Amino acid sequence: VGLALAGGPLAGKRVLVTSGPTHEPIDPVRYIANRSSGAQGTAIAEALRDFGAEVVFVTGPADAARPGGMEVVEVESATEMLAAVEAALPVHAAVFAAAVADWRVTSAATSKIKKVGGKLPVLEFAENPDILATVSRMKTGRPDLVVGFAAETDDVIENASAKRLRKGCDWIVANDVRPETGIMGGDENAVHLIMEDGVEDWPRMGKAEVAKRLAERIAEALA
Ligand code: CTP
Ligand code: CA
Repeated sequence: VGLALAGGPLAGKRVLVTSGPTHEPIDPVRYIANRSSGAQGTAIAEALRDFGAEVVFVTGPADAARPGGMEVVEVESATEMLAAVEAALPVHAAVFAAAVADWRVTSAATSKIKKVGGKLPVLEFAENPDILATVSRMKTGRPDLVVGFAAETDDVIENASAKRLRKGCDWIVANDVRPETGIMGGDENAVHLIMEDGVEDWPRMGKAEVAKRLAERIAEALA
């Protein structure tokens, strides 16, 4: 009876999950970021853990409570997240649920920018490294399965399918984040799983249930 406890469909598999936003500093007290509670990424990490995987959870500064029973790596910026991801490799599968800021401020001020006589700051941006694309395109040591996310407001399937090809990942979990869906910041998610050979439309369900279904698919794919 006790033997079953050590198992699980992902026993012996090492899996990486990125989650939360990244913060890109403007100065020591200000930053730019995407909206992300970290709830869906955290739920995915927990589901993978519950299936017996060894999970490395790389998270930006998210509100969601940190999951237990796994290695948690806290980062701030996209640059730091990429470094933490590279340090966590090799893994059997990687799920990139983080809402990474696309741009960083090229020269963040080292002291607080002050309002001086109505003069407005002008920020210059550089594009952040694409962590998902970097890992997807690795020549050696690429995870067997690379899963990205796509939060879209228009033409969800079309945009997400194009994104899958552009980034070179195996699957994309796509969701419709138009404000009227109420998905953003809520407890539920309605996603489409986009694979090379087709698209699965999942009904709207709790984020924990989305996570469990995704963990099931990942276990099947790695088996
Ligand atoms: N992603 C990443 N590194 C980045 C940007 C995005 O790893 N610098 C990952 C996200 O974690 C997600 C996927 O790429 O899994 C898609 O992110 P998204 O922002 O939808 O893609 P972009 O290519 O940035 O496209 P968009 O112009 O729509 O923001
Ligand atoms: Ca983006």
